[in-house]
Amino acid sequence: MTGTRRGAQPTLTGRRVRLRPWRPGDATEVLAACQDPEIQRWTQVPVPYTAEHAQDFVAGIAPRTWDDGGALFAVEPLGGGGLVGSMGLFPPADGFGEVGYWTAPAHRGQGLTAEALGVLAGWASDAAGLHRVELHIDPANSGSRRVAEAAGFTAEGTIRQRFLHRGRPGDVVLYARLAGDPGR
Ligand SMILES: CC(C)(COP(=O)(O)OP(=O)(O)OC[C@H]1O[C@@H](n2cnc3c(N)ncnc32)[C@H](O)[C@@H]1OP(=O)(O)O)[C@@H](O)C(=O)NCCC(=O)NCCS
Repeated sequence: MTGTRRGAQPTLTGRRVRLRPWRPGDATEVLAACQDPEIQRWTQVPVPYTAEHAQDFVAGIAPRTWDDGGALFAVEPLGGGGLVGSMGLFPPADGFGEVGYWTAPAHRGQGLTAEALGVLAGWASDAAGLHRVELHIDPANSGSRRVAEAAGFTAEGTIRQRFLHRGRPGDVVLYARLAGDPGR
């Protein structure tokens, strides 16, 4: 899939959140959010996280990901109120793709991440035509595991020491939602 053939990245709308393409002006909020120790602990964001990382994410990595067949979205409340977080599908292969996300501390605990994940997973199967969406979650990341379950993902098992996290092999729980699975 190429950017030319796919057209422009869409905006997806849920009940309380909107998932829209990243804009260069989002870099300041991304920089602030990615200082959070929980985001640095559980995701692959660079540490330390600098202004250059934030600028490259919103203006370089995000459009390249769309061109490569994936889709990174900024999540924002429908009613306004600043950046909620990041929800992204990495470039798929063989009809399935992996999703990753983080949510800024001020917006946690309101079900917004689970809603945004459900919106992305629905779009990935309905519009992008994927038969399977995966999440790879550290077994100790209980918050993210609850988000996955709330969005209709099923834990399929633990993959032991398959992936490097900050240079060290770690276990992940493999979650997946199939196109035919019930959503939220
Ligand atoms: C994990 C994270 C995304 C959760 O975001 P959130 O906006 O608080 O999640 P939601 O409000 O949508 O919560 C959905 C469910 O998970 C539960 N939950 C969220 N965080 C939790 C936590 N730390 N411990 C236990 N349960 C938690 C909520 O209570 C809710 O449960 P419910 O469906 O029973 O009501 C957020 O804490 C975060 O960004 N963490 C750092 C980055 C990260 O871990 N990314 C994922 C990497 S795999």
